[in-house]
Amino acid sequence: MSKTYLVTGGAGFIGSNFILYMLDRYDDIRIINVDKLTYAGNLENLRSVQTDPRYSFVQADICDTAAITRIFEADDVDYVVNFAAESHVDRSILDPEAFVRTNVCGTVNLLNAAKNAWQTGDDVYRDGVKFLQVSTDEVYGSLGKDGFFTESTPLDPHSPYSSSKASADLFVKAYWDTYKLPVNITRCSNNYGPYQFPEKLIPLIINNTLNHRSLPVYGDGLQIRDWLYVRDHCKALDMTLSNGRPGEIYNVGGHNERTNLFIINTILNYIKNNVDPSVDESLITHVRDRKGHDRRYAIAPDKIRRDLGWYPETPFEKGILLTLEWYINNREWTDNITSGQYREYYDNMYGVHS
Ligand code: NAD
Ligand code: DAU
Repeated sequence: MSKTYLVTGGAGFIGSNFILYMLDRYDDIRIINVDKLTYAGNLENLRSVQTDPRYSFVQADICDTAAITRIFEADDVDYVVNFAAESHVDRSILDPEAFVRTNVCGTVNLLNAAKNAWQTGDDVYRDGVKFLQVSTDEVYGSLGKDGFFTESTPLDPHSPYSSSKASADLFVKAYWDTYKLPVNITRCSNNYGPYQFPEKLIPLIINNTLNHRSLPVYGDGLQIRDWLYVRDHCKALDMTLSNGRPGEIYNVGGHNERTNLFIINTILNYIKNNVDPSVDESLITHVRDRKGHDRRYAIAPDKIRRDLGWYPETPFEKGILLTLEWYINNREWTDNITSGQYREYYDNMYGVHS
């Protein structure tokens, strides 16, 4: 059955990967990409589909009620996939309010617009519609040495970013509990792959190594993240839209726990051995730790495996090679987005080292 997807934040990292994945996989869908085009949004990611009749782009802020309502009035949207967010923890420590505006108020605005467009009676909605909130494992807080986040782990966010995402999740849940709006929430671990803005660990370290800049390690570098290849995440979202039970939360994780220092050394060694023998460990620089830094994230993706048949297909060793090769072969992509207006922020944040 042909479906129309309203994808918000589709010019960002995961959103653009999702649009490319879905258009590659299905002939008979339509995708409307709604993106404000903040520093993190880049239509270049979607150049290969920009003239595809199944795809259209609207530049709008998800907080803009009139603009979002117009989109619902103009098209029979079946699915909302809400990626739009301020997504970087370090930025949230500098400017929490921007995170409240987009991540909380923007999500509530979208929920309201979807409810108004889809409602056919009291707690009754058009057949086959769904609102999918793309959330994060960071809403669960931090783990000690052992254990995993499950869907029933209590919410315990620590940063302004994760607090805003947890708040949004609670509003999504409230629209299910109160109005029976068909929703799903997915909470995934750290994604990596092509088109990730080079403020996040993996693309930052690749870019800085290629440019002989220092590699900033927050604190002791022994924090652990559970790395998920972005294409595997896109597949999980597709499966959740099709088969996720309304009202349910699904955790999506990669079974790839690595320390930050392991990640940094892996990237450095690859570039040293394959691209530029002159780079070495002297680039690694321990800097002040992130405030409120979560020590360890790890997801048990048992529920999504059991209920929807999804599992992470890409081992870290394969995913990191694909990612390294993409960034090395597409250096102008990173150069373009770290030049001009972003240069000053980028240099202030990470320093310039020759
Ligand atoms: P990103 O920062 O790369 O992209 C965010 C996109 O949202 C950009 O295109 C930006 O222009 C757009 N946007 C921001 N504010 C907007 C607004 N007010 N209105 C419309 N568009 C707006 O983020 P990402 O890494 O692709 O993350 C996508 C989603 O997945 C986010 O909701 C994030 O919380 C969640 N998530 C990300 C990860 C990860 O590892 N990257 C992990 C778990 C969850
Ligand atoms: O877990 C999911 C989350 O993963 C998403 O919800 C967020 O949107 C996404 O940004 C990511 O958050 P993290 O804070 O885990 O990712 P980041 O890439 O910023 O940092 C990963 C780890 O690396 C973290 O422990 C901080 C550390 N780090 C990061 C940077 C940018 C460094 O040591 N040095 C750095 O320069």
